Amino acid sequence: MLEHGGNLRDAVHSFKRPLSEWLDLSTGINPRFYPAPIVADHAWHRLPEHSDDLLAAAKSFYGAPEMLAVAGTQAAIQSLPLLRLTAAGQSRVVVSAPSYAEHAHQWRRWEHQVTECLYSGLDAAIDEADVVVLCNPNNPTGEVIAPETLLRWANRLEARGGWLIVDEAFGDTNPNLSVAAHTHQSGLIVLRSVGKFFGLAGIRLGFVAAHPTLLQRLAAHLGPWAISGPAQQVAIAALRDHAWQTDTRHYLELQGQRLRGLLIDAGMSSSGTDLFQWASHRDLSGRTELLWHFMAERGIWLRWFAQAPFRPHGVRFGLPGDEIGWQRLSHALMEWTQQYV
Ligand SMILES: Cc1ncc(COP(=O)(O)O)c(C=O)c1O
Repeated sequence: MLEHGGNLRDAVHSFKRPLSEWLDLSTGINPRFYPAPIVADHAWHRLPEHSDDLLAAAKSFYGAPEMLAVAGTQAAIQSLPLLRLTAAGQSRVVVSAPSYAEHAHQWRRWEHQVTECLYSGLDAAIDEADVVVLCNPNNPTGEVIAPETLLRWANRLEARGGWLIVDEAFGDTNPNLSVAAHTHQSGLIVLRSVGKFFGLAGIRLGFVAAHPTLLQRLAAHLGPWAISGPAQQVAIAALRDHAWQTDTRHYLELQGQRLRGLLIDAGMSSSGTDLFQWASHRDLSGRTELLWHFMAERGIWLRWFAQAPFRPHGVRFGLPGDEIGWQRLSHALMEWTQQYV
């Protein structure tokens, strides 16, 4: 299995510091997560049937014509390569890079011909591919592609029976970037997650927006009761809670600015979204591992991306969840600046 952020058990093991003493900044998950309501008894007790209320809430929030609920976007990322296995053979798949590593990994598992391609090279790669996969905005770099460009690419792929898969897991802080509204087009597939903006990664829930025929095939592949009853109830409340969503967008914008400001003060230029910042090896003057280690020794767990072909090389900072966390980060960055900048 690939390594991911949020792996605090590795932090405990490697640095011999108890779990409770870590400041976990290794993910892009909103630390001020949606306050889950008390779940009704039947959600624990009954088999979780398909929920029209959940889908209606999701379609309204994401602006998509048709959606399928899945147990985290990860479930869709693992399943879509299987739906592309045809008698005609494997697909030629272009995956944008550097990016969320599961995409390339899952397509390779089923022996599709995977090419990883920098964002800047995607336009030229579209006509050589059956499937193109990208994240918008990108994790970890924060790169974005304009919706008009994505729709043009989807048209070019659709004309040949191809797919454009747009992973919008980090799209909730900037809904204007979304192409979910256009997924009646048969070549366009959009993935959304309640794990990031809503901070509900633990309930394992995401959505796929796509043409109904593809959603039916995916639903049949995933089988019955894919979403637990408690996950359904919590997500319905979160997706309908417009006041919380507006307040949270504003809160995250301020938190994102604060994080960017701290990194600038520490001599790092960075890119990212309101939920995380990315400092590349170049931004860090080659001191990526040193910074990651320096922070870990102070109980601050960052996501370090070690170098490999087409893998990013740098560190990602998530948001501290409270003032004590901000002060710890700020103090550690100040020490870093005094010693190394
Ligand atoms: C870009 C991206 N897509 C999808 C996922 C999977 O998210 P989930 O399965 O929690 O919806 C992640 C997790 O980190 C991610 O970063």
